[in-house]
Amino acid sequence: MDEDWPISDIPSHAAPAGGRLTERMLSDFKNAGVLVLRDFVSVDACDALRARAEELVDAFDPQEVRSVFSTTEQTQLDDDYFIESGDKIRFFLENDAFDDSGRLRQDKKHSLNKMGHAMHDLDPVFDQFSRTPELAEVVERIGIVEPAILQSMYIFKPPNIGGEVVCHQDSTYIYTEPESCVGFWFALEDATLENGCMQFIPGGHKLPLKKRNYRGADGKLVTETLDDTPWPEEKKRPAEAPAGTLVIFDGRTPHLSAANRSSKSRHAYTLHIIDRKARYPDENWLQRGDHLPLRGFD
Ligand code: FE2
Repeated sequence: MDEDWPISDIPSHAAPAGGRLTERMLSDFKNAGVLVLRDFVSVDACDALRARAEELVDAFDPQEVRSVFSTTEQTQLDDDYFIESGDKIRFFLENDAFDDSGRLRQDKKHSLNKMGHAMHDLDPVFDQFSRTPELAEVVERIGIVEPAILQSMYIFKPPNIGGEVVCHQDSTYIYTEPESCVGFWFALEDATLENGCMQFIPGGHKLPLKKRNYRGADGKLVTETLDDTPWPEEKKRPAEAPAGTLVIFDGRTPHLSAANRSSKSRHAYTLHIIDRKARYPDENWLQRGDHLPLRGFD
């Protein structure tokens, strides 16, 4: 154990009844910036969300979209298709989805990177999964006074081509003053090292915010480096998670996931919650039209 870095593991607990996090769970979250709660949602609820996602995928025509999402490629951030998705349900393909002749390498449902970013407000099944009394209780206990669910993402991490996500902090993209972003990551299928599970640097939420992404004067998104010291990636730990697990993490906690080169998909669902009491800058990428006001758990 490193004197300067006292936390070496990701704290993990069985989910508490009613989402009533214990003092121990709260102190673990405060110290590590990440908390695993096993069996937070039922496998039936996970299956219902996957089934609904599959219906939405069936209705999607990939030829309409040439956009890909990759944190390794700045160019995607310039893409209006992404920037305008904050109050919509849009699909994003994997980088390797198409072969050289422009045909999908795998079937449609195994070519998608993610779906985002407002399913929780636009689709009844996603709404129901996202607004449970248990989740509202967790959010209250971790101290978010006036929560708003800013975005939802359905992560496909498909077999063979599911791309790597490099180490980052979510507050880079979901920045408020003061910072208030908290991520809620649900395993809808078993996440393992083989299929590219989430990995976190426990205690890394005490590092500075290293980058900030925002809309520049020309409307294009830029990522500004605030602190160029490298991540202490040797301190990363995998969060292998059976379906039904919830992982809560601070917007400052560095995390990543490796590519999925296995033959199994790794579906997950994420919500990002902010505190309405914090200022939400106009230059953040995610902006909603007035037709879809932010909501908490009511
Ligand atoms: Fe992230």
